[in-house]
Amino acid sequence: MNKKELIKLAVEAKTKSYSPYSKFRVGAALLTKDGKVFKGANIENAAYGATMCAERTAIFTAKLEGVEEYSAIAIASDSGDYIPPCGTCRQVLLELCGEKLDVHITNGDGEVKTFKLKELLPFSFGDKNLNG
Ligand code: THU
Repeated sequence: MNKKELIKLAVEAKTKSYSPYSKFRVGAALLTKDGKVFKGANIENAAYGATMCAERTAIFTAKLEGVEEYSAIAIASDSGDYIPPCGTCRQVLLELCGEKLDVHITNGDGEVKTFKLKELLPFSFGDKNLNG
């Protein structure tokens, strides 16, 4: 699966968003090392703090299926601006996917920026700090 196909799946995933409060739909498509894709979308709640981001719905679904190795995640929204993952999603992706994960961030014009997760979360806190 190439980057363009993965992004298309993230755009598709956005249609599953439950976002009546922000009206800000986000979709994510997470590619495993063996070529499977797990989609995610943001799911909001009237108690706003209980909202879950698209990236985390995708990674938690994959984790529960026993996946341990990932290569990339694509993220899409309806915004004209790029949709970078929030800080909490960066932290969770780092823990479960590792710093080499490719993160494809899209904007409304179909443009893409790709980062390694390590670039998005430098000098991070992780298990090394607890056990190092
Ligand atoms: N959101 C995501 O799904 N992913 C992010 O990385 C940033 C924010 C969602 C959460 C909320 O439903 C809406 O976007 C507005 O913050």
